Amino acid sequence: MEKVKGELLYEGKAKKMYAVRGRPQEVWVEYKDSLTAFNAQKTGSFSGKGAINAQITALLYQRLKDNGIPTHIIENINDHEMICEKLRIIPLEVVTRNRLAGSTAKKLGKEEGTPLRAPLVEFYYKDDALGDPFISDDQAMLMGAVENRQDLEVLKTKALAINKVLRAEFEKAGLELVDFKLEFGRNDRGEIVLADEVSPDTCRLWDLKTGEKLDKDRFRRDLGRVEESYQEVLQRLKEKSK
Ligand code: ADP
Ligand code: TMP
Ligand code: ASP
Repeated sequence: MEKVKGELLYEGKAKKMYAVRGRPQEVWVEYKDSLTAFNAQKTGSFSGKGAINAQITALLYQRLKDNGIPTHIIENINDHEMICEKLRIIPLEVVTRNRLAGSTAKKLGKEEGTPLRAPLVEFYYKDDALGDPFISDDQAMLMGAVENRQDLEVLKTKALAINKVLRAEFEKAGLELVDFKLEFGRNDRGEIVLADEVSPDTCRLWDLKTGEKLDKDRFRRDLGRVEESYQEVLQRLKEKSK
């Protein structure tokens, strides 16, 4: 039977989450055209942005699934909507860095793009009112973000495994995955599953040859050609996956 969109459960900065009628374990995810940065202090949008991010996420999550890494996507409805497994989101933004850029480069006084000997995984506490602060493992435990320390290790191991697959995928598209943010949630069986999205909103992507930025930093830093860059990432990923 065809699935039917139910009531709006939540509207975020980049997506709307709806119920799926008669299917309490699922959510209907609609990607929006809005673009925000710095905890929504800066806002913008362009037509088709939601569709680009949804298609990039669908393509990459399929690749992760092919590599034995479970994700929340159940089915793609159209270019900007998908049905996902409804999860209890773990309130941690799991950031993996292959080079130092952005906040950690600034904090440590390192040049943007400083290479790392091994990927670095960091946790940020998901709380808009606090500005999603960096937290230590002990602080994550203190805040009850996860049930036990083993869960933090599972998140790190999963992030590193996902990094391997995504890095290779972007490399084939002529892009370097500098860093990215993941969210995970727990399903009814207690399993930790990859949630949310992976897109130019949530990654730093640099052209392998020129170093040109092709991600949300173009919007954050007023570099121009935001829409063209998002489109280019999708085009390149589609091209090489043919
Ligand atoms: P934000 O809440 O930061 O503005 P979005 O606009 O992307 O972000 O909203 C999506 C929301 O849905 C986020 O809060 C995210 O944690 C949550 N989410 C993502 N995937 C799932 C899922 N499979 N089940 C339940 N919630 C999810
Ligand atoms: P940062 O360098 O600003 O900490 O960002 C690290 C990565 O995480 C970068 O690829 C952008 C992504 N990110 C999000 O997806 N959401 C956020 O709220 C922030 C701050 C970063
Ligand atoms: N995701 C955050 C926001 O939408 C911050 C960022 O990506 O810069 O405000």
